[in-house]
Amino acid sequence: MKRTVFTLLLLFAVLFYNPFFRSSMCSGLEENYVAGMVLSGTGDALGYNNRNWEFCRSGPKIRAELDKLGGVKNIDVEKWIVSDDTVMHIATAEALVEAGKNIEPANLYPLLAKKYKECMDDMNGRAPGDTCVSSAYRLNPEVPDGWMIPFHKSAGGCGAAMRAMCIGLRFPHPEQLADLIKISIESGRMTHHQPTGYLGSLAAALFTAFAVNCKPAHEWGKELLDVLPKAQAYVIEAGRDVSDNLETWSYFETKWRCYLTERGILDGKSEPKFPEKYNVEERDDFYTSLSFSGWGGSSGHDAPMIAYDAILGSGNNWTKLSHRAFFHGGDSDSTAAIAAAWWRAMYGFKGVPKANYNKLEYRERLEKLGSDLYHLTLER
Ligand SMILES: *[C@@H]1O[C@H](CO)[C@@H](O)[C@H](O)[C@H]1NC(C)=O
Repeated sequence: MKRTVFTLLLLFAVLFYNPFFRSSMCSGLEENYVAGMVLSGTGDALGYNNRNWEFCRSGPKIRAELDKLGGVKNIDVEKWIVSDDTVMHIATAEALVEAGKNIEPANLYPLLAKKYKECMDDMNGRAPGDTCVSSAYRLNPEVPDGWMIPFHKSAGGCGAAMRAMCIGLRFPHPEQLADLIKISIESGRMTHHQPTGYLGSLAAALFTAFAVNCKPAHEWGKELLDVLPKAQAYVIEAGRDVSDNLETWSYFETKWRCYLTERGILDGKSEPKFPEKYNVEERDDFYTSLSFSGWGGSSGHDAPMIAYDAILGSGNNWTKLSHRAFFHGGDSDSTAAIAAAWWRAMYGFKGVPKANYNKLEYRERLEKLGSDLYHLTLER
């Protein structure tokens, strides 16, 4: 009798304790989905500041201007347009929603390609990246396989990462990991067919799924490293430009391993360690040190890395998150769009001043997409 009870308990524990996604959908409320989409747009608009701040290389200068405006809590976003990041994030989400249950490559990928191509008509004043523009031009959703573009060795920018968070909202369940990997990579390499570029898309999607499941943030980095071999296996299996992909594979992983070591969280268990003095100047220096060519957050590896660093250091504090992820000398709108999506998928709108999102451009579109994605996860 005792043994039966013990066996049952064990079975229960095995079934319900899945270490990969600690607790399934613990905060997976519709509001969190809506907040993830909308506040990602807010982060983007604030970090962009109508182009003034994305390209400003000095965090202290941005912070001085922010102080003059009364700090983040006093910003009304009405005249702060969203940048290319949000327009492309909307494109990804719209394709996922239109595809609905049919996520077969022949259905979903041409839809994604079509959306990426079409959204280029809405880039006036939004500073789209060169790689996104030139690759979108090459996509041809009308013909079979027209969504594929060849390997491109300098396509390691953050353009694939900045638009992939909603893929994690669409595939939050542990048994959907293979879909999350495949779709984040393929949507990523529609413009960034280079591992540093499209693995950024994987990281942005994966960490959103972790956030939705309220997995503690200090565990995310190690899990990403554990997922990379599966991503590589998929790229090999997909069979496109395999040797080029494998030759350029290691940069992303090496940079992440280095970063996680520096923060003391390579084991996926320890709490992160930050330098004693880590203010706006020190963060600018650190973000630059992570970068490929001196502009922190502009690549596929370091845009999610800086967003992650901000999250590890902010608790549930919107102001703190904004200081670390939105207002710095790097590619601030992309790190902001990513960080805000992750964190609000966990916390919803709680603690965010209404003025920061109430009159956000495309707010209704983003809300509807969040809500539609949420409903897609319910009917499995
Ligand atoms: C949030 O962070 C800001 C900036 O670091 C700080 O001034 C504020 O007191 C924090 N708020 C809470 C509730 O801890």
